[in-house]
Amino acid sequence: MTARIAHIVSLLPACRVFADIGCDHGYMTRYMLRRGLCERAYISDISAKSLAKAQKLLAEEIAAGKCIPVVANGLEGIREPCDFVLIAGIGGEETVKILERGGIPARFLLQPMKNTEKVRRYLVERGAGIERDYTFSEGKVQRKYYDLILGSAKGGSVYSEKELRFGRDNLRGASAAFLFEMKEELEKTETRLKGDLGAASRAKLETREIELWEIIHEVEGNIRYD
Ligand SMILES: C[S@@+](CC[C@H](N)C(=O)[O-])C[C@H]1O[C@@H](n2cnc3c(N)ncnc32)[C@H](O)[C@@H]1O
Repeated sequence: MTARIAHIVSLLPACRVFADIGCDHGYMTRYMLRRGLCERAYISDISAKSLAKAQKLLAEEIAAGKCIPVVANGLEGIREPCDFVLIAGIGGEETVKILERGGIPARFLLQPMKNTEKVRRYLVERGAGIERDYTFSEGKVQRKYYDLILGSAKGGSVYSEKELRFGRDNLRGASAAFLFEMKEELEKTETRLKGDLGAASRAKLETREIELWEIIHEVEGNIRYD
């Protein structure tokens, strides 16, 4: 299990029916079922080849009727109300499309690989309640950064524009991972600014540089090491 997967499963709550959308390997569902955290789980993937990996991993649970495999786009193969839906490792735009087609699940954990801002905007505009919204990291030397949103369909969280852009909890008691990510991006931006650039690219990078400086300054004295 990678550090990313371990982080995600540590936040999965006990529920009756669980669904893992874009399940691929199926590790998250195995965690839920083997720990008795759900009665029944759907493993769903748009690719039959990906789903086959989870089917192999969860063959016993499938035979026992506790795990239902489906090849489907997003939430389309889920035939009953789910208490908790996980959508991890899929791009933010695709995650939004899945929510548009299938509706916002009662409770969910989303871990978009990019474009998290679009996911936040979608959820907040539609009255979702966001419990956690922060960045975590994997790896010590070559860090990788991931955003995570835990919430429910109802609750009507109110976000500022900055919170939509950077993640609410990253600004209210930022995680060390978020600060590292911003500092790394600042370093890369400054390196690029030393090179030959057209006027438009330079202006864009300079705006981003200022934005990064401001965010780093804002969160630096307010770090959560977890
Ligand atoms: C990188 S894997 C992530 C696997 C696992 N959820 C994780 O976080 O480790 C992405 C998986 O999502 C599946 N996928 C992509 N778009 C999908 C969609 N619209 N509906 C269902 N599955 C999708 C892909 O086939 C692939 O198996």
